[in-house]
Amino acid sequence: MLGNFTYCNPTKLYFGRDALNGLNEELPKYGKNVLLVYGGGSIKRNGIYDAVVKILRENGKNIFEDAGVMPNPTVEKLGEGIERARQAKADLILAVGGGSVCDYAKAVSVSVHCDEDPWDKYYIRFEEPTCEIVPVGCVLTMVGTGSEMNGGSVITNRKQKLKIGHVFGEKVFPKFSCLNPEYTFTLPRYQMVSGFYDIMSHILEQYFSGADDNTSDYVMEGLLRSLIHSALVAAENPSDYEARSNIMWTATWALNTFVAMGKSTDWEVHMLGQAVGAITDATHGMTLAAVSMPYYRHILPYGLPKFRRYAINVWNVSPAGKTDEQIANEGLAAMEAWMKKLGLVMNITELGANESMLDDLVKSTLVMQGGYKVLTAEEIRQIFKESL
Ligand code: NZQ
Ligand code: ZN
Repeated sequence: MLGNFTYCNPTKLYFGRDALNGLNEELPKYGKNVLLVYGGGSIKRNGIYDAVVKILRENGKNIFEDAGVMPNPTVEKLGEGIERARQAKADLILAVGGGSVCDYAKAVSVSVHCDEDPWDKYYIRFEEPTCEIVPVGCVLTMVGTGSEMNGGSVITNRKQKLKIGHVFGEKVFPKFSCLNPEYTFTLPRYQMVSGFYDIMSHILEQYFSGADDNTSDYVMEGLLRSLIHSALVAAENPSDYEARSNIMWTATWALNTFVAMGKSTDWEVHMLGQAVGAITDATHGMTLAAVSMPYYRHILPYGLPKFRRYAINVWNVSPAGKTDEQIANEGLAAMEAWMKKLGLVMNITELGANESMLDDLVKSTLVMQGGYKVLTAEEIRQIFKESL
């Protein structure tokens, strides 16, 4: 049964080959000072930077830059960005990049006018902002996180060996996002498939929780089927517009809060993956891929009916003459084969983890309450061991 909920998603999306023109509609709504935030330089090589700057100039904006946002943005970089935004007296923060750049822009946006330490306030105490929030817009260049239409913002504190996401409320969602699937064509294969798995993981985190039969489950099964198909097409031909545009749209729906409405969710795979990310700085989607199979095989007995349903409705496993366990396990085997076909990293050793890190990995993993099994520290250690 669906629980009670209030639903609002305030982000305006511009989607398709002309999506960047959306900036011409949005920019006049904000003051003159724009802080242009981007990563390590991919947007300079593929022409997106020039296209964005041209539109900013045509709209009479003063452009201030904050470059070098790294994948898994750090708390130290966040400090720099806050300073930069203050100097610029930013009226708008325009994030041009992937989830890291968008997440970082949101973290800056809630900290510019706040005197407290942002790490303690937002990532340790999980408080909502009480200060003025600088509006954020986003031009997406890497698909996977859903950051373009949600309030998520993940920051890494390497000293504390913690990578933590704050899911902010509506006020922190990007005001608008421009989504041109062609902008993702230049992604290196490793990043591309990592993003595909991030999308799958977002859906599964919300699917494998609760025992109800609700609309969200049917929507998620449809999203998963579309993703499974399109990912294989895109892996074969990365410039297939149909596949890449379907994947881009699926990624947004996978984590724009819609499918989570009225149901419980898990997110333990992300907690395990974020621990790996905090310690190894590995690519987000790959950390999830590397821990997923051991985790799902571990919790399968506790959520058997849903794993059975997943096998049949998503992976077309035929149930005839099989036990529920056999059906469910065949579903996971089909998922594992798909992951290997895409070339995903299937163990944390390949991401730089080793046995001597197990204590730190266990300590860095937050335990969630919404999955089929609330994990003990011993179970977490076992899952990491099996992921090595
Ligand atoms: O820095 P540049 O040079 O731009 O290169 C980036 C970066 O190295 C490159 N890239 C991006 N677009 C490109 C491109 N290269 C060529 N062509 C393009 N068009 O890709 C690399 C990875 O970018 P990044 O932004 O780090 O990837 P992603 O979008 O996967 O974001 C990962 C971050 O998002 C967080 C993750 O934890 C991680 O910190 N997440 C955010 C979530 C949210 N907001 O809700 C949820 C997710 O579960 C996730 O935790
Ligand atoms: Zn994710």
